[in-house]
Amino acid sequence: MVEIVIEKPKIGENPAPLLVIGISENKEYEKYSRHIGSEIEDNLKEILTGKAFTGKIGTSLLLPFVSNPKIGKVLLVGLGRPDKFTKETARIAAGKSALKSRDINEPNFSIFPLVEDEDEYIEAMAEGIFLSLYKFDRYKTRASETENINIQRVSILVSTENIEELKKKIERVKVISDAVNFARDLGNLPPNDCSPGQLIAQCTAMADRYRLRTTILERYQMESIGLNGILSVGKGSNNPPKMLILEYDGSSADEKPYLLIGKAVTFDTGGISLKPNDKMDEMKYDKCGGCTVVGVMRAVAELKLPIRVVGIAPCVENMPSSTSYRPGDIIRMFNNKTVEVLNTDAEGRIILADAMAYGIRLFNPRLVIDLATLTGASIIALGANVAAMIGTDQNLKNRLKIFSEETGEKIWELPLWDEFHDQIKSHFADIKNIGGRPAGAITAAAFLSNFADVTPWVHFDIAGTAWTQEGTWEKSYNPKGATGFGIRTLAKFFIEESRGKHGS
Ligand code: BES
Ligand code: MN
Ligand code: ZN
Repeated sequence: MVEIVIEKPKIGENPAPLLVIGISENKEYEKYSRHIGSEIEDNLKEILTGKAFTGKIGTSLLLPFVSNPKIGKVLLVGLGRPDKFTKETARIAAGKSALKSRDINEPNFSIFPLVEDEDEYIEAMAEGIFLSLYKFDRYKTRASETENINIQRVSILVSTENIEELKKKIERVKVISDAVNFARDLGNLPPNDCSPGQLIAQCTAMADRYRLRTTILERYQMESIGLNGILSVGKGSNNPPKMLILEYDGSSADEKPYLLIGKAVTFDTGGISLKPNDKMDEMKYDKCGGCTVVGVMRAVAELKLPIRVVGIAPCVENMPSSTSYRPGDIIRMFNNKTVEVLNTDAEGRIILADAMAYGIRLFNPRLVIDLATLTGASIIALGANVAAMIGTDQNLKNRLKIFSEETGEKIWELPLWDEFHDQIKSHFADIKNIGGRPAGAITAAAFLSNFADVTPWVHFDIAGTAWTQEGTWEKSYNPKGATGFGIRTLAKFFIEESRGKHGS
């Protein structure tokens, strides 16, 4: 596992095998000798003024020729235009440096803060490094000869005096990044090794380690309390549905908890309303909402935040068989509302609805946030890099939006006006599970709102952002596969909610 250390630069004393320098685009040449000593200043000047390297974001150039034995190699990474520099730039550029270093089998590198305002951007740099180095290779039988080494140590060479404070920040970033990478591991599991039972076994092992209280509802238990939405969707599979409940209590008072709900469909074939075979393999990622919830629970517990949080993941496999639920079925849900099933592929909203109503009844939460790879329509609306946010609490939505701008996890709000509810009115039941093609992401949320009752509620449709797919923007810190989208933003939310409370 990579270790990030914060140090004062000691050029000429600490030989750095690889030294990374950020280069801005369209900037007049400035002296870099303060960073690298005067020995290679001339080489660098030639490269930059001759435009051999322009500093475009996402690019890099390795200078292997450096003759100074105290420096070793130098890597230039592009930062884009200075007026557009954000935390996202720092994340991408630092992540790129780590990947390059791994590419050339250099396990240790040193990097200068990418901008003057170093305190503010070092967290983002660390995040970029921790997240970019993730890879899911447990199914690769043997490390090939071309396999790269692992990065061991990254030293960030700061000029600030606040080293102790920065170290604490890096620790926190590491906890959150580990939670993201854990959720990625779960998300990337192939469906033959990840039935609802297998997914939950992975989660309980984590929960024990972080002392989360764990409850698993088995099929017979769900039958006795009427979680018929989850049971119906799970009926077609030989792998029985289960519901995972994780509880964290770091508060001293008897407070209302925050409730998180995540869709965990371990594989979504569509059921009787079978999906076409194109890219059906990607439906192994239909559990990513649940994985995000589990990841957030891990982060909150490891950070020991002084709050109460409950995370629920209804886990099912959506399969076609002689025991499947069918189009035309009418389900009496946990909250007694009836749902007419007109498409068995709109299964996510059905399991979330039950989990949400159950969680609200049992835990009386102050608010509920759900995450789900819910609709292809959200990808049509916003593309594969932006999650849709829909909900009933404007203040909560505004705050989450602001945190997402800090984390680079892009979200955009869609409206939920009353008229949208007309699209899911059913002829035979209270509501139906599809609302037609127009505004598909919104009508899915309209369906869910029937189960949030009066509890403040926000829904994230992460169908586009939960894994790298067609249309995903290439970013160093999002390697192929599950992204863990949402964990960093929600962790930030809970850290902010904890401020001013005991222990923080
Ligand atoms: N898991 C899918 C949504 C999805 C599709 C996510 C493609 C990412 C990529 C969900 O269960 C689903 O099948 N939704 C249907 C709903 C429709 C039948 C109303 C969809 O989006 O097509
Ligand atoms: Mn589906
Ligand atoms: Zn689905």
